[in-house]
Amino acid sequence: MSKSRILTGITTTGTPHLGNYVGAIRPAIEASQHQDNLSFYFLADFHALIKCQDPGQVHQSTREIAATWLACGLNTDNVVFYRQSDIPEIPELCWLLNCMAAKGLMNRAHAYKAAVAANQEAGEDPDFGVTMGLYSYPVLMAADILMFNANQVPVGKDQIQHVEMARDIAARFNHHYGEHFVLPEAVVDDKVAVLQGLDGRKMSKSYGNTIPLFLGEKQLKKHINKIKTNLLEPGEPKDPDTSTVFQLWQAFATEQQTADMRQAFADGIAWGEAKKQLFELVNEELMEARERYNELLASPTAIEEKLQQGAEKARTYSQPLLEKCRSAVGIRPLN
Ligand code: TRP
Repeated sequence: MSKSRILTGITTTGTPHLGNYVGAIRPAIEASQHQDNLSFYFLADFHALIKCQDPGQVHQSTREIAATWLACGLNTDNVVFYRQSDIPEIPELCWLLNCMAAKGLMNRAHAYKAAVAANQEAGEDPDFGVTMGLYSYPVLMAADILMFNANQVPVGKDQIQHVEMARDIAARFNHHYGEHFVLPEAVVDDKVAVLQGLDGRKMSKSYGNTIPLFLGEKQLKKHINKIKTNLLEPGEPKDPDTSTVFQLWQAFATEQQTADMRQAFADGIAWGEAKKQLFELVNEELMEARERYNELLASPTAIEEKLQQGAEKARTYSQPLLEKCRSAVGIRPLN
């Protein structure tokens, strides 16, 4: 039986933070150690252009995200790791899918609807500032997924709708042109932690409350010290279950260490002491990867080589499938 295919994309805007690490990077890298599935992980740099029109930032973020995945130990022998823009078949398939995607379906996409709602709120034209990139974002995402006939697509809740749209578009293409695409399924893992940020809300770039993944030790310590706590004094029992410090601890600790910290909270550990221990724990897990990360950033050629190898591997899947799709729609040599 052929392996189940798992595929997910990472938009290349911003610098990876602890929330990305715990929620996406670490589990994906663990999964890359097993060969029971065939995994495709890619840098969605075409998608980045929808949100970010600063070329320097797109470029820098692509480099940082690629370096992060490699530094954290992604096993590129077991997975296909590539950059979306290195696969010319993706935008080409995107066009074929555009011609099968109902406009009405795109009208219902959350990201577009949110933009329209914000414009209406502000008394603007409903489509003010809405690019075709934003509007047809789900079609590009469908091309990403269908290009590799992914069975499962691990995503956050906000992306479920997009995977369903990919299914819809695939079904329509299959119905019209014959069976070419697997119908993908979104997989949302409730077990992976959604980390809280410095202010206790979900750690997210848009809230400006993140702890970047590969800060130097001093900076990491500084950020951890900024985590919001309450005013309870040393010796006063503290509630672990409402504490960001404890939640972060749990994301990095063994079960035993978690139980011990729970007890320490009950015993009234000082916030300063809990944060000091948290720094040591997080630093310990990230230390080696941080060193590799800094080395990789200093030699982008090594990263680029990995990505080129990944692209070559990816295209052994995308080229034959696109060939079939072209032929199916009537685009083929005349003789
Ligand atoms: N849109 C996704 C996000 O913002 C990233 C992405 C692009 C993606 N293409 C994909 C995720 C294909 C899964 C499959 O998170």
